[in-house]
Amino acid sequence: MKIVTTIADALAQARAKRRVLVPTMGALHKAHGELIRVARESAGKDGEVAVSIFVNPLQFQPGGDYDRYPRPEKADEEFCRNAGVDLLFRPLAENVYATDRSTFVEETSLSSTLEGKSRPGHFRGVCTVVAKLFNILAPDAAVFGEKDFQQLAIIRRMVRDLNFNIGIIAVPTMREEDGLACSSRNQYLNSEEREQATVLFKALTAARHARKKSANDVVALARKIINEEPLARIDYVEVADAETLKPVEITGPNSVLLLAVSFGKTRLIDNMRLV
Ligand code: PAF
Repeated sequence: MKIVTTIADALAQARAKRRVLVPTMGALHKAHGELIRVARESAGKDGEVAVSIFVNPLQFQPGGDYDRYPRPEKADEEFCRNAGVDLLFRPLAENVYATDRSTFVEETSLSSTLEGKSRPGHFRGVCTVVAKLFNILAPDAAVFGEKDFQQLAIIRRMVRDLNFNIGIIAVPTMREEDGLACSSRNQYLNSEEREQATVLFKALTAARHARKKSANDVVALARKIINEEPLARIDYVEVADAETLKPVEITGPNSVLLLAVSFGKTRLIDNMRLV
């Protein structure tokens, strides 16, 4: 595995083979392992799997968890090596952003709801860094998890609108045995919070199986289940169209239930297709 830490070195990497990128912020876990596996499948044995690890300051809220975000460098490196990654790009923040930076990438429609409403500027940070990674590493395809459903929709839109010649590959959410969606932030949860956080999967599956037509009824059912856990603080529970992310009133084949709920200081997101 080649490890590259400067942009100049990354740009200088000759690329004769198909390259598939898995952009991450590190603290790698089994869901990243799945993204890397899918990247390998897409790259083929002669292609190249690249992983970027960069905790992107631009996508964190002021006073958010940027400083305490886990950065287990050695373990991440080992993880990538064991997963058969060919290229690990791990730049320093000061090399990625010029201090007088004044250019950003902003998607202005899909970003206005859900996470975008709760975390202003978050998707501007995500789009800016992903566009930079696309320019620096020039992948043929990039792999993203469906857990960050809105992020995936926004990246697809950015790729379409800005004509990046890069295929976007979506990977279904990977879950722990009790249903909790894998996330680097799960490690912040204490044991009581961790136990109660399983309510998210319960609420999503119950809402899905109830097969209610009215989105209000779906949301009410999910909220009721989540509120049974005393530590859960709901930010949003919404039914949206999977492409436009606009709220829907009557659920259909393209409806997705999305939620953000905090347990203590840890905010978790999850989602599920309704049909
Ligand atoms: O999903 C993430 O880990 C991040 O938002 C991403 C896509 C790596 C951009 O920093």
